[in-house]
Amino acid sequence: MKILILNGPNLNLLGTREKSVYGSRSFENYLEELKNAFPDMDLEYYQSNMEGELINKLHEVGFSYKGILLNAGAYTHTSIALADAIAAIESPVIEVHISNVYAREEFRHKSYISKNCKGCIVGFGLEGYRLGLTYLHNLKPKKV
Ligand code: DQA
Repeated sequence: MKILILNGPNLNLLGTREKSVYGSRSFENYLEELKNAFPDMDLEYYQSNMEGELINKLHEVGFSYKGILLNAGAYTHTSIALADAIAAIESPVIEVHISNVYAREEFRHKSYISKNCKGCIVGFGLEGYRLGLTYLHNLKPKKV
């Protein structure tokens, strides 16, 4: 059961970046905890600061993986190309945001990707990734 966690721009700096908003833990550190919590899930992690690389990754895994957790960072609020990539693939994509984007600047209230995602998890800190994995873990395989 392969699952991709895909993080977008600036999320490589979690733990050092704007700690009051995103916390003081690195994603690599949190990932170890997730792997221990879901030992039967084959978790892959990929991060890129480049829009095209995120799109390429969605294309690469989006027809075979059970699901994808996507934190597209600021591309959430700007990228029609990312929205189109999510619509083009078959694996369910869950949108994750660490912060509550609706309690922040107005430009963060608009997501181009939400409507093409299975669901959205917003504002629960890093725990949002665990919530998304719980959903995918319990997801029954599609009947053909
Ligand atoms: C974010 C929210 C975005 O608005 C911001 O640009 C990020 C992180 C979050 O996880 O809260 O980079 O996606």
